[in-house]
Amino acid sequence: MYRSHSCGELNATHINKEVTLAGWVQKSRDKGFIIWVDLRDRYGITQLIFDEERTPATIMEKAKSLGREFVIQVTGTVIERESKSTKLATGAIEVLVSQLEILNEAITPPFTIEDETDGGEDIRMKYRYLDIRRNPVKDSLIFRHKVTMEVRKYLSDQEFIEVETPYLIKSTPEGARDFVVPSRMNEGQFYALPQSPQTFKQLLMVGGMDKYFQIVKCFRDEDLRADRQPEFTQIDCEMAFVEQEDILNIFEGLTRHLLKEVNGVEVEKFPRMLYDDAMRLYGNDKPDIRFGMEFAELNAVTQHKDFGVFNSAELVVGIAVPRGNSYTRKEIDNIIKWVKRPQVGALGMIYCRVNEDGTFKSSVDKFYDQEDLAKWVAATNAKPGDLVCVLSGETNKVRTQMSALRMELAERLGLRDPKVFAPLWVIDFPLLELDEETGHYHAMHHPFTSPKPGQLELLDTKPGEVKANAYDLVLNGNEIGGGSIRIHDKATQATMLKHLGFSEDEARKQFGFLMDAFEYGAPPHGGLAFGLDRLVAILGGQETIRDFIAFPKNNSGRDVMIDAPAFIDDVQLTELSLKLDIKE
Ligand code: AMO
Repeated sequence: MYRSHSCGELNATHINKEVTLAGWVQKSRDKGFIIWVDLRDRYGITQLIFDEERTPATIMEKAKSLGREFVIQVTGTVIERESKSTKLATGAIEVLVSQLEILNEAITPPFTIEDETDGGEDIRMKYRYLDIRRNPVKDSLIFRHKVTMEVRKYLSDQEFIEVETPYLIKSTPEGARDFVVPSRMNEGQFYALPQSPQTFKQLLMVGGMDKYFQIVKCFRDEDLRADRQPEFTQIDCEMAFVEQEDILNIFEGLTRHLLKEVNGVEVEKFPRMLYDDAMRLYGNDKPDIRFGMEFAELNAVTQHKDFGVFNSAELVVGIAVPRGNSYTRKEIDNIIKWVKRPQVGALGMIYCRVNEDGTFKSSVDKFYDQEDLAKWVAATNAKPGDLVCVLSGETNKVRTQMSALRMELAERLGLRDPKVFAPLWVIDFPLLELDEETGHYHAMHHPFTSPKPGQLELLDTKPGEVKANAYDLVLNGNEIGGGSIRIHDKATQATMLKHLGFSEDEARKQFGFLMDAFEYGAPPHGGLAFGLDRLVAILGGQETIRDFIAFPKNNSGRDVMIDAPAFIDDVQLTELSLKLDIKE
């Protein structure tokens, strides 16, 4: 037996007991005749004491050789501490050591294994196993475990069955590029790693599984951000014989269960917002509704004067920034600079101060009088002491810019409280999205999503206006899940693929298996997938998912610890038929 107790559990009730502990040396303080060692394991820290009077000389000698992160096993007696610590759970006691075994030595770690470490991101990723010894990372992984356990418990209680689907598959279009795997046995051919188990879960519905879920790795070769990894995990779900309403209710139930069990937060029924309203009011399909600052469209109250910038704009939009009138001229200039950064891309910003005395002072006083400005103030719902910020330009662009400004100012004003949870459903997404570069429409969600009843006909005439039975679950300004009611008949699926630009041949080649399955009695079905990493991060009060993944990739998609991706040798390349014969 390596240990009788963990390093986190001993307290005053154990005094005089003999115990055996094992763990890592967090630090050691050698006063010559007395040595204290903090012993750490996953559960906590226990103080060990060695002293010349009570500890055998050989043990004392060994204790002096202990360095940081040595792995040791000790046996000793729990005694009351002279100077107690209230910071540690074990702070009332210490262990007077009578036996010490060095299980393994350690070289000095490249950064301190402390909550506030001196190690930068790169070095911590290179030595991630040391990083995981630190409380913030360890606690995040334990937190993730807790969330996944609750997910499994909840869904299993609702009669969902967890089924594994294959990783070596054929490309499923979810909008990103595929990672591919060459097949040795099928020369020149490739598997694709799943961007999601979308088609398989639909086939499970045809297979009669009825309620499926899977906590599953997905792979997408796309540009990385704080909330994106090339391999990430979904809670993937599908149900047969359901309508959108059933799905929203079940998964709202799951989310509410998690908020309650994991965060101790009770949330009312989730609001539902039409996609069009989300775009109009927040410029964004994943609005953070923890705070107001909703958009007000100001075309009607700005386009009657000689101000050319507004007159020529497709959209003039304003927000009221709470207490923004306290900004100095310099601070406002900084905000203007911020919106003009290439990442945001606005040409400028007009503003209007709402003074406490009921007067207004704008940066375009030359064009707009107090009566005009009063209308801006009324439309944005600004209060005395606020600042109205106005952007203008092409609708889609200006909405994106204003959304970025709204989030930035809310962050600066401390309105994005990570302990407050504001979930909502965004529903009625467009079925298709125009790719500005190619001029072609592609599926906004994926090609298996059904249009709203009666809208299929619009596909020919007004493809951009067709709405889908698709929905996203949004939490604190993050898309934590998305799904749809699916097409479940071959004819509709074929029509849909045709509109997405697939020839009959291509459709057959890529999705023949699914359309064939639809001919054998496919039930109406639908589902959704949560992004588990995002969900866990947000429940944990953060937005960077890397901290909740044991071995994440960096921003270039590299694992710097194992140094992947890597070149492979010629023999392997030849075996995989990937070695090109370059002729001179
Ligand atoms: P979707 O593509 O919306 O839907 O993905 C579902 C959820 O997965 C998360 N997510 C990611 N998380 C981390 N890194 C990434 N690169 C990444 N990409 C997506 C998001 C997102 O909401 N098959 C459909 C689901 C369905 O229709 O049932 C799908 O994959 O939180």
